This record gives sequence, C-alpha cells and structure tokens, in this order.
Amino acid sequence: MANLLVTGGAGFIGSNFVHYVVQHTDDHVTVLDKLTYAGNRESLAGLPVDRVRFVQGDIADPSLADRLVSEADAVVHYAAESHNDNSLHDPRPFLDTNIIGTYTLLEAARRHDRRFHHVSTDEVYGDLELDDPKRFTESTPYNPSSPYSSTKAGSDLLVRAWVRSFGVRATISNCSNNYGPYQHVEKFIPRQITNVIRGIRPKLYGRGENVRDWIHADDHSSAVLTILDKGEIGETYLIGADGEKNNKDVIELILELMGLPAGAYDHVTDRAGHDLRYAIDSSRLRTELGWAPSFQDFRAGLASTIEWYRANEGWWSPAKDATEAFYATKGQ
Ligand code: NAD
Ligand code: DAU
Repeated sequence: MANLLVTGGAGFIGSNFVHYVVQHTDDHVTVLDKLTYAGNRESLAGLPVDRVRFVQGDIADPSLADRLVSEADAVVHYAAESHNDNSLHDPRPFLDTNIIGTYTLLEAARRHDRRFHHVSTDEVYGDLELDDPKRFTESTPYNPSSPYSSTKAGSDLLVRAWVRSFGVRATISNCSNNYGPYQHVEKFIPRQITNVIRGIRPKLYGRGENVRDWIHADDHSSAVLTILDKGEIGETYLIGADGEKNNKDVIELILELMGLPAGAYDHVTDRAGHDLRYAIDSSRLRTELGWAPSFQDFRAGLASTIEWYRANEGWWSPAKDATEAFYATKGQ
C-alpha cells in the first residue's frame, strides 16, 4: 500500500487514474488540483473518503507542494494546461503550470527524495507524414509544434535534468490521444458527441485528414501504474494502443453510432500549425515491462463513451455554452 500524490486528479486523465487506482490497488490518494476551468470536483464523486483526499491548490505554490510531496511515497504528475487551441490563444498559463509547476514539484521531490512519475504527451515529438512507415519511439528527437507541446517538452527536459543532476527518482511517459469519460467538452471527441446531443452539427478542422492514435483512458492508467511499479529510474516509456484514425473517420463513426447520416457535419477553420499525424510504437513498454492494452475495439469504446455523455449531461452541460462561444470567435 502506498500514498500517492496525484496532481491534476480532477481533470480528465487524472480523475480516470484515481478511479482506476481505487478499483485496482490498496493505495491511498491525495489529489492536488487547482480546479481551473478544466478541473471538476464531480469527476471524483462517489470515491471513498478514507482512500481519496482532495486538496485544492496550485502545483506552482512551493510551500503547498513541499508539504504534500513530503507526505506522499510517490508523485504522479498529471496537472497541466492541456489544450492546444487555448495555447494558441493565450500561452502564458501553459508556461506557469507546465514549466514552473513541474519545476516546483521536482524541487519538492528532490528535497524529500520521493519517487516521481511525469505524465507527458506524444506531441513532444512533433508530427509525421501520413505515409511515413515510422512511428514515434523513445529515441525520436523532440520537435514540438505548439505552445502547449513545447511547454510539455520543456517539462520533460526538466525531469531528465533533475534525474541526472540531482538523482531524483523519476520516470516519464509520453502517451497518445486519450478518450473516455470525464473529458472536457473542448476536446475533439466529447465536443462532437455533445454537439449531436444538443442538436449542433459536429465541427471538423480543415479536411479532417489529420491522424490521432487513440487509447482508452483506462489503458493509460494501467500503463502508468505499470511504470510506477516496474519502470527503470531515469527512463522514458511511450504509451499507445495502435489506434490510428483520421479525424474524418472518427466524426463519421460518432454520427453513425448516434444515428445520424455520415455527412451531417461542418468543415471549419483549421488549427494554426495543426500537427498532421501522431503514431506511437509502444514496444518498449510491452516487451520490457509486460504491459498490454485492454481496450482493443475503438468502436465499442467510443459507443460506451457516447453512452457516458448521454447519461451525464449534468456533468458536461455547465461548460458547453462557454466552450462553443469561444470556438465561434475563431470560426471553429
Ligand atoms: P485536463 O485539462 O483535463 O486536466 C488538467 C487538470 O490539471 C485539471 O483538473 C486542472 O484543474 C489541473 N490543473 C491545471 N493547472 C494546475 C495547477 N497550476 N495546479 C494544480 N492543478 C492544475 O488534462 P488531461 O487531458 O487530463 O491531461 C492530463 C495530463 O496528461 C497532462 O499533463 C497532459 O499533458 C497529459 N496527456 C494528455 C493526453 C490527452 O489525450 N488528453 C494524452 C497524453 C498526455
Ligand atoms: O496526443 C496527445 C494530446 O492529445 C494531448 O497531449 C493533449 O493534451 C490532448 O488535448 C490531445 O491533443 P490534440 O490536439 O490531438 O486533441 P484535440 O482533442 O484538441 O483534437 C484532436 C484532433 O481533432 C486534432 O487533429 C484537432 C481536431 N479537432 C479538434 C476539435 C476540438 C477537430 O477537427 N474539431 C474540433 O472541434
């Protein structure tokens, strides 16, 4: 049994991780979350209070970070500004949280010699051509495109430096695009599902040829637990489930599963600097640490995600109007 400090545990992937830990381990969890627009206390509703403690606060607050890190056996660091479109509009919070926040936690982990796992993204590697036979591996050079991905790349490099310079016992994972419950309606899949529920036409950026490599959030959680348990200190592991799909196919599958014709969506203004394709080779995690994904059927995983959004309108509805109003100002 361990005490885990989970930063960003009221966000999409962090809250899925906390649910997963409660279901699959004996660990106790302290969530540290600032509750930005992306955090939601309701994502942790129903979890046992003797296993999960919630602290509202900023990872960039040195005294709070120091106290909570000192009380934990290990830190699992999810907290971030996570949305590319927001980073194109106002990059500053991305620097404050993703760079300074990660630095603040690393300093606390260094002072108290705590195990640290840093959750990062495949976007640090830039993008691939559609016909490139190669996929991202742990040795692909960093080449981030957006303010979001460049701050995540910066945070990864800080972790590597704190391992080498100060002996911090850290690992890093870089995962592909997640789907599942509790994802904010600003993101691609929940935006389209909730648009259909609200009677709004789904919105596809540009021609929709961009490819993302989809993984269910529960598979991301099982991979992070595997790395915490068996990962080699100082190493990086890529997490992916061989789920490459282009955005047009995903929108058409959502429409089909929700009973609408394939063409019932709008093409809207493309994202500036839009990465063309992400693709993960997760062989290292599978062969060295024995991890494998459980969700192999994207259609079934998407159908259950659609059901979750249908059944939980009270969770997403308060954020929907403001999100769509923001996109409307950008022609998206
Ligand atoms: P999210 O935006 O849904 O959640 C982020 C959470 O962090 C929110 O609860 C927010 O309140 C909290 N937070 C933000 N700034 C904070 C601060 N300064 N102090 C404390 N808490 C703060 O993000 P997500 O999609 O769940 O992503 C979580 C992590 O996983 C991020 O580090 C992201 O880079 C990484 N990641 C995401 C994906 C994906 O597909 N969503 C894929 C790979 C990696
Ligand atoms: O690859 C991992 C990354 O995946 C994470 O690091 C990020 O935190 C996470 O947000 C996600 O980034 P993307 O930019 O790929 O996700 P997003 O959901 O914003 O968009 C997915 C694709 O869908 C992308 O090609 C843009 C497109 N898109 C998005 C929206 C919101 C649309 O076509 N229409 C839309 O309305």
